[in-house]
Amino acid sequence: MSASDGARLPVTGAQLVAAARRAREHARAEYSKFKVGAALETADGSVVTGCNIENATYGLTICAERVAMFKALSEGHRAFTRIAIVADTAAPTPPCGACRQILWEFGGNLEVTLANLTEHIGTHRLEDLLPLPFDSRLL
Ligand code: THU
Repeated sequence: MSASDGARLPVTGAQLVAAARRAREHARAEYSKFKVGAALETADGSVVTGCNIENATYGLTICAERVAMFKALSEGHRAFTRIAIVADTAAPTPPCGACRQILWEFGGNLEVTLANLTEHIGTHRLEDLLPLPFDSRLL
């Protein structure tokens, strides 16, 4: 089955956040104890989730956002619209610099929704989170 098979009903923002909350439960955050979930919406309306995955080297940790994007790319998805990111904190958890770069390169100017376990905290455009990006247009 390819990434574009099947018609899908539109996903609401609340459903995208709910998917990120569920994905967060799978986080492997034994070292930081900071669990993050992400839900990436594709242009055809699919939702691909991710969670952060830490390991004993610490440095090979991968964030929830990149897990979601790499999963989606590996399944054949090529166009994206929104991502929801969830952590269990009062303050928003915005994507780290590495994730901003990867989301920009493969997802473009995504709508980025930040939420915690109970509330929606904010919505941004990725171009505002990553001004003056380096990308393939400059190569
Ligand atoms: N983390 C994410 O997964 N996404 C973010 O947006 C911020 C940070 C993870 C990486 C690490 O496993 C833990 O949160 C603490 O930095």
